Amino acid sequence: MMAKGFKQPLILLLIVVSSTLLHSERLQSPEANTLLRIRSLLNFPSVLSSWNKKTDFCNLEPSPTVTVVCYENSITQLHIVGHEGAPKLPSNFSIDSLVTTLSKLPSLKVLTLSSLGLWGSVPKQIEGLSWIEVLNISSNYLNGDLPKEVSSLTNLQGLIFDHNKFSGQIPDLFGSFPALNVLSLRNNCFNGSLPSSFSKLSGIRVLALANNHFSGDVPDLRRLKDLQELDLESNSFGPKFPQLGNKLVKLLLRRNKFRSSIPNDISTYYQLQKLDISSNKFMGPFPMTLLSLPVISYLNIAGNQFTGMLSRNMSCSDALSFVDLSSNLLTGDLPDCIILKSKYRDVHFEGNCLNVADGSQHAYAFCRNGALAAGVAPSRTEDRARKAVLASCIVSGVVGVTLLIVLVFWVLRRVIKKKKLKEKPSPRVIAEKASAGCSSKLITDARYISQTVKLGALGIPAYRTFSLEELEAATNYFNSTAFMGEGSHGQMYRGQLRDGSLVAIRCLKLKQSYTTECFMPHIELISQLRHRHLVSAIGHCFECYLEDSTVSRLFLVFEYISNGTLRNWISVGRARRRFTWSERIGASTGIVKGIQFLHAGPGIFSNNVRITDVLIDQNLAAKVSSYNLPLLAQNTDMVGHGALVGSQETRMDHEDKADIYDFGVILLEMIMGKPIKSRSELNITRNQVQATLAGDEEARRSIVAAEIQNTGSDQSLKTMMEICIRCLKDSSERPSIEDVLWNLQFAAQVQDAWQGGEHVNSNRGSPVSPPHLPRFRLTYY
Ligand SMILES: *[C@@H]1O[C@H](CO)[C@@H](O)[C@H](O)[C@H]1NC(C)=O
Ligand SMILES: *[C@@H]1O[C@H](CO)[C@@H](O)[C@H](O)[C@H]1NC(C)=O
Ligand SMILES: *[C@@H]1O[C@H](CO)[C@@H](O)[C@H](O)[C@H]1NC(C)=O
Ligand SMILES: *[C@@H]1O[C@H](CO)[C@@H](O)[C@H](O)[C@H]1NC(C)=O
Repeated sequence: MMAKGFKQPLILLLIVVSSTLLHSERLQSPEANTLLRIRSLLNFPSVLSSWNKKTDFCNLEPSPTVTVVCYENSITQLHIVGHEGAPKLPSNFSIDSLVTTLSKLPSLKVLTLSSLGLWGSVPKQIEGLSWIEVLNISSNYLNGDLPKEVSSLTNLQGLIFDHNKFSGQIPDLFGSFPALNVLSLRNNCFNGSLPSSFSKLSGIRVLALANNHFSGDVPDLRRLKDLQELDLESNSFGPKFPQLGNKLVKLLLRRNKFRSSIPNDISTYYQLQKLDISSNKFMGPFPMTLLSLPVISYLNIAGNQFTGMLSRNMSCSDALSFVDLSSNLLTGDLPDCIILKSKYRDVHFEGNCLNVADGSQHAYAFCRNGALAAGVAPSRTEDRARKAVLASCIVSGVVGVTLLIVLVFWVLRRVIKKKKLKEKPSPRVIAEKASAGCSSKLITDARYISQTVKLGALGIPAYRTFSLEELEAATNYFNSTAFMGEGSHGQMYRGQLRDGSLVAIRCLKLKQSYTTECFMPHIELISQLRHRHLVSAIGHCFECYLEDSTVSRLFLVFEYISNGTLRNWISVGRARRRFTWSERIGASTGIVKGIQFLHAGPGIFSNNVRITDVLIDQNLAAKVSSYNLPLLAQNTDMVGHGALVGSQETRMDHEDKADIYDFGVILLEMIMGKPIKSRSELNITRNQVQATLAGDEEARRSIVAAEIQNTGSDQSLKTMMEICIRCLKDSSERPSIEDVLWNLQFAAQVQDAWQGGEHVNSNRGSPVSPPHLPRFRLTYY
């Protein structure tokens, strides 16, 4: 009781004292009323629940959510920060009224209205806030254009409109903000390119435009001497690296469409602490000096196409705490300075071609190839290192007709030899077109061949030349996702042309210097190799060296065969079913017809066809994708195939028999329905088949693929087994291609008759819609 009696007068006294002391600091009532009005316009947010008519605004304890700062009885700063994710204010909210009300605070210089659910587009009345210096209205729902009237806020030092719904292009009004040093428009829907007046923001320190839809090249920012932070993340800026001053501290270009190389002067960015240029298409050499910039602590170049060889002795900045080099085309050894301190550093380097044995790296060829595709054509020889590469192609004069790839020297030699035997005069007219350094024999031979080749209308697009741009567009600049595989004859990419058709593109880097004319005979031949059972070339493209116009790369564009390899349909793979016996006979016949065409037309032998080189199209027709192309063999310094070793005479006699043997191996796999991957497997299986040939039907049926056991007639099976065994004999005993074909056709007839009887198979011959694209490796040589 006594204590209570004491306390009350004490409290009273304190109130009297304080109100006396602070009287002179009290806000004038119009401004206090304005604040209360603002509270009501904001629909009484909970952070302002303590405000009332008696609140002494200038003496509120500042808090992270609400702060009022007064100077000489006027409000100079007002900060109201609502709850994160605050919902939109109700429909009776009026942004116009709010702005008009704010303009009644004549000394207000710094205003934050954040996370309060404001919505609507910024009204013209904004010009009434002309004395404002910092305006932060982030995390609301404001929309529409950035109003031109903003340009009347000439005292602006900071404009922060992050996390709203602003859209449209930025008006060209930044000539009028001499004092602006922070411009932050992150997370809106602005689009279009930046107006050139950005180059005039001479006082800017922070320019943050991340997460919008901006596009195009960044205006020249070299005059912005104070620029320290540039955040352009997640837009569509590009393709050129921005032009910048070298005082940058943070440079964030992640997820844009930059596609250039990095300028050398980046090594002069001595204040750079954070660099994130990941997930673009930057290419060219990775500037190693980035690792050793004096104060760099965060470096992320992941997901680009940087090339270059790292070495263990490279040096790194001591400040470096995060390094991500992953998914580029880097080779060499990881620098010691990165690994040794990796306990303290966040280091990522997977998806390159570095010498790191942890399974995280691609094969060296992937990077070399990617570098090529990115247009960084390494020069042919060291002394030509500085040679520019002209990335344009196109040779006129090829009137395209049909199919596949080129011939090797030995075919040429063979043809020449035949000619010598026949003492034919060489066609002079054509020979005269040969340019210096280019054998005229190539040209005469090609003419000889093209007269021989018969053409067929196969529903394949006419042969034509492609531009490099077209191929780049088709493969997304030879993106690694389009990479299908690599063989001794270059890399294979999958592409989609503008008309939607799929193609397979072989990229061939040339070792010798030839002019495009030298290739024309080959190209003409390729263009005519069209057959229902061959994968056809539909065009080509040359990339030439600028200096002497010799060819640096040759691209051959093939039809894309979408139904996987024959093996998928026979033994292992993802085809949804296995071929029936009739379909196997049909595929065998297709392969033999394809080979026969190569032999009889251009005289292309020893094609080294494997079951994985036979592709299946949408109509389930077999197409041979691998042939012995002279140009390719020559380019890879392959003198010839193993089958050809021996005297010329032997070669002449048996040159067509190597393909027969290879066909026998394929046929054996089709009969047995299991992959044959080694010579011993082959011998065992062949002996097994041979043994059952002498036995009864039961024995034969017991060893063949399950799919054949009940869908094949015994006589057709026996015929196929016999021809298979003959194909696998020594070369002198092998049947001719015509003999093989005759036997296959006989087997097909027998099988048809048998099926026409009691064993009707409803499945037979029906076209199959393509399943999802299988992953397989085309060889196409
Ligand atoms: C707006 O509507 C809400 C109810 O949705 C009401 O509580 C509030 O008083 C209204 N505010 C104004 C300024 O009319
Ligand atoms: C804008 O206001 C929000 C909310 O208070 C704050 O988090 C942010 O840092 C401010 N932005 C700037 C650039 O001052
Ligand atoms: C920008 O977005 C608006 C819609 O917000 C659209 O009408 C306009 O065409 C876009 N401009 C560009 C250059 O994309
Ligand atoms: C680093 O090592 C490479 C060979 O791995 C050598 O060519 C280069 O000169 C060395 N550089 C320095 C700075 O020691």
